[in-house]
Amino acid sequence: MQDRHGHRISYLRVSITDRCNERCTYCMPVELQEWLPRGDILTYEENLRLIGIAAELGVTKIRITGGEPLTRRGVIGFVRGVAQIPGIRDLGVSTNGTLLARPVAEIADLGRGPRSATAATMAQALRTAGVRSLNISLDTLDRHLYVQITGRDFHDQVLAGIEAAINAGFEQLKLNCVLMRGRNEDDLVPLIDFAGERNLILRFIELMPVSTTEVLDDENFMSILHAQRLIEAHFGKLIPEASFRTNGPATYYQIPGRNQRIGFIGAMTNLHFCESCNKLRLTCDGKLRPCLGSYLEFDIMKPMRAGASDADLRQFFLEVVERKPEQHDFRNNYQPNRRMIAIGG
Ligand SMILES: C[S@@+](CC[C@H](N)C(=O)[O-])C[C@H]1O[C@@H](n2cnc3c(N)ncnc32)[C@H](O)[C@@H]1O
Ligand code: SF4
Repeated sequence: MQDRHGHRISYLRVSITDRCNERCTYCMPVELQEWLPRGDILTYEENLRLIGIAAELGVTKIRITGGEPLTRRGVIGFVRGVAQIPGIRDLGVSTNGTLLARPVAEIADLGRGPRSATAATMAQALRTAGVRSLNISLDTLDRHLYVQITGRDFHDQVLAGIEAAINAGFEQLKLNCVLMRGRNEDDLVPLIDFAGERNLILRFIELMPVSTTEVLDDENFMSILHAQRLIEAHFGKLIPEASFRTNGPATYYQIPGRNQRIGFIGAMTNLHFCESCNKLRLTCDGKLRPCLGSYLEFDIMKPMRAGASDADLRQFFLEVVERKPEQHDFRNNYQPNRRMIAIGG
């Protein structure tokens, strides 16, 4: 699939829930805490059907996200189903990490795999089900600040979750840190050390105005350039790695004197951000969104539930791709019509 602007679509981000066990200030503002009714959420079977159609149209990479995807029952069985879809070569999950160290038996999900005497962690179960990569959110190593940002005291669980993910042997593990001026400037260097000690790729993400307008203002916005300056003041000049890409919009650098790579996702300040965009998003309530930073969304659940054939749904995908904008609208006073948590970051 290719749009009018030359974007080749090979990556579908699938949000399977708008629910979450955390309440990050930038994602889920207090006034918007209301879940969608169950019947409005795509079933796993519907998701698998749509992913199968996307795969026929050239999508090779799927990332499962949310809300917090690991809070949805049956997620292991679902990811196993996604991994088995012909054409899907790369399957990743984005998670806040809080549930990764939990024995799956405790999560009352269990998929359909055999039970072993030693309970597998959620991380192991995901790996065994065919997940190749995990992105884990971690904005700070300071437990008190973590509570302020996420509204929950789950820092220990996340750290345990990261260790569980390391032990599970994923092909790629990344940590994502949202940059917030006046909040986590002092965390950048400790987070780099933390990631370096564990051989993880750490990425710094600019805050985007995806939930309410108050999320982002001059007070709390930290540009990737500012973050780079803070990091360079400690480590020296970062070494650009123009040739390294992970199928996303991040730019990567080496820390001087170390064998460590860090990334920056500058949706707000990198003017070339959208040029290589290869993504579509499917929200948990069945809307296809051609761009995270645009109002455009198209309800594919409705025709599907009304009996659309696979050929109809294929055509639907192609028409959505046709409407993909050249670039996002974040810099033009874009106001979201849904919360980040209901889009799937
Ligand atoms: C919406 S979350 C969903 C997956 C999972 N719950 C997690 O936290 O990783 C996906 C990513 O979006 C990021 N995110 C949420 N709101 C954001 C915002 N306003 N600006 C930038 N990134 C945001 C989160 O930090 C996370 O890395
Ligand atoms: S960023 Fe992730 S963990 Fe935080 S509220 Fe949003 S969905 Fe939940």
